[in-house]
Amino acid sequence: APNINVANVRAHLNQFQSIANANGGNRAHGRPGYLASVNWVKSKLDAAGFTTRVQSFTYGGATGYNLIADYPGGDANNVVVLGGHLDSVTAGPGINDNGSGSASILEVALQMKATGFQPTKHVRFGWWGAEERGLIGSTNYVNSLSSTDKSKIKAYLNFDMTGSPNPGYFVYSASGQPSGSLALQQRLQAGFTSINVQTELTSVGGRSDHAAFARAGIPIGGTFTGAEGRKTAAQAQKWGGTAGQAFDRCYHASCDTTSNINATALDRNADVIAYTLWATAA
Ligand code: PHE
Ligand code: ZN
Ligand code: ZN
Ligand code: ZN
Repeated sequence: APNINVANVRAHLNQFQSIANANGGNRAHGRPGYLASVNWVKSKLDAAGFTTRVQSFTYGGATGYNLIADYPGGDANNVVVLGGHLDSVTAGPGINDNGSGSASILEVALQMKATGFQPTKHVRFGWWGAEERGLIGSTNYVNSLSSTDKSKIKAYLNFDMTGSPNPGYFVYSASGQPSGSLALQQRLQAGFTSINVQTELTSVGGRSDHAAFARAGIPIGGTFTGAEGRKTAAQAQKWGGTAGQAFDRCYHASCDTTSNINATALDRNADVIAYTLWATAA
């Protein structure tokens, strides 16, 4: 798997920040900064040869959008999906939550093409709308699939908040939630081990878009660098950073800007995303 260049991921975050700045300061469901985010990500994927589709839905009196991108080739009966939510809350630009996961899977997608990766399995990416309103976009997507199409999805990997400023390195616990996959958990852990980063397991329950896939019985996994929870002294020993402080003090706040990113955490998670995709889809 390629080592993802974090400068490229940060450049994508700068784009999300610019989009928010030009659209009232956020990228929230039903606001113009959301659709501008979809259109920008779509243009990058179209230029790289992905087959893209925008799926719309209605929620709270506004139109929402999921962006779905298929990498050409691979076994259509064995599909690996990587996703994260592209919407922010209305309070701010949502650069860590979830520009970070969105930009990281975008860069991994672009590197599939750049490196000429030809996986055995079919690979699909999803950028979900209206997560912040209750996992609306991802739920709409899963509900739109036939039971046959659902059964073809062998893995769903979720990335929501991967660059927290006072980061932890959490892997979704297979036993901590419905449809948790031990194989995916262990592959994500192996990715961190390969770059000498210690991890902890976390039970994220139904707090992000993996929950929609889990309800459909699809094996899920993911990584997370922490939100409103506070870093313990033992965690600060292990990972550095500040004990007693939130992993992300700007969670759901106006200060969730490009300044609210730990570049090392962003880079490590992007590298682990690539490692895990290459190992899962090869
Ligand atoms: N989904 C939460 C949000 O967007 C953040 C979160 C991600 C919480 C992953 C737990 C695990 O606000
Ligand atoms: Zn890297
Ligand atoms: Zn959020
Ligand atoms: Zn989120």
